[in-house]
Amino acid sequence: MNLTLRVWRQAGPSAAGAFVEYRAHDVSPDMSFLEMLDVVNEELTAKGEAPIAFDHDCREGICGMCGMMINGLAHGPVQATTTCQLHMRSFTDGETLTIEPWRAAAFPVLRDLCVDRGAFDRIIQSGGYVSVATGNAVDGNAMPISKPDADAAMDAAACIGCGACVAACPNGSASLFTAAKVSHLGHLPQGQPERYRRALRMVAQMDLEHFGGCTLFGECQAACPKEISIDEIARMNRDFLYASASELEESAKTGGAG
Ligand code: SF4
Ligand code: FES
Repeated sequence: MNLTLRVWRQAGPSAAGAFVEYRAHDVSPDMSFLEMLDVVNEELTAKGEAPIAFDHDCREGICGMCGMMINGLAHGPVQATTTCQLHMRSFTDGETLTIEPWRAAAFPVLRDLCVDRGAFDRIIQSGGYVSVATGNAVDGNAMPISKPDADAAMDAAACIGCGACVAACPNGSASLFTAAKVSHLGHLPQGQPERYRRALRMVAQMDLEHFGGCTLFGECQAACPKEISIDEIARMNRDFLYASASELEESAKTGGAG
């Protein structure tokens, strides 16, 4: 296959960016999208040009690093697939592909296709943990968890923090990501003591990071490579509302202190 690539090149966060056209020759349909970019980069390097910067790590769909827009779609045209797991057989010979970084105020471009997703880390730091003394690993059955709860926690835990939900959302909202992280622990007994505090803190941090509000467009769910459901957002909102009401009740009892 021979393809034309229109790639966003930007030397740094404050540099002006622009699309630059490249030809990708003799692309095997069995290559992954990232392998195709590797071959293009080898050619650029051999010519003394700067290779296209893009994030990647596991190349097996579990680390969430390889986010980019391909023809306007987060992670490209195949549902439930990360860019590293996307194969070139999903495109046709002679096609022109437009490749861009995530576009969101909360994800500033660092270089070419790489963006700063530190805002996600700060959301996790604000409440995505359980405060327990860990010690030795306990017996697997020490704390029985029902199958539906374990399945629900596992579904939410599948979020790899890639940011496609933010990139696909017309509002640039991080609600699907945050809701997945709130729900993951909220479904488990170990997550209960901090459940409502977690929802308050993570939603507050999400707002501080300049993500947009959620208006339930559903684009996030459609773009998510791990098929996280927007039901998680409803669950997060319920926990947040309950936590906000309880906090009001608490401050009324204490005369506003604490
Ligand atoms: S919810 Fe889906 S799209 Fe959003 S960060 Fe997690 S895995 Fe990526
Ligand atoms: S490189 Fe890890 S998910 Fe794609």
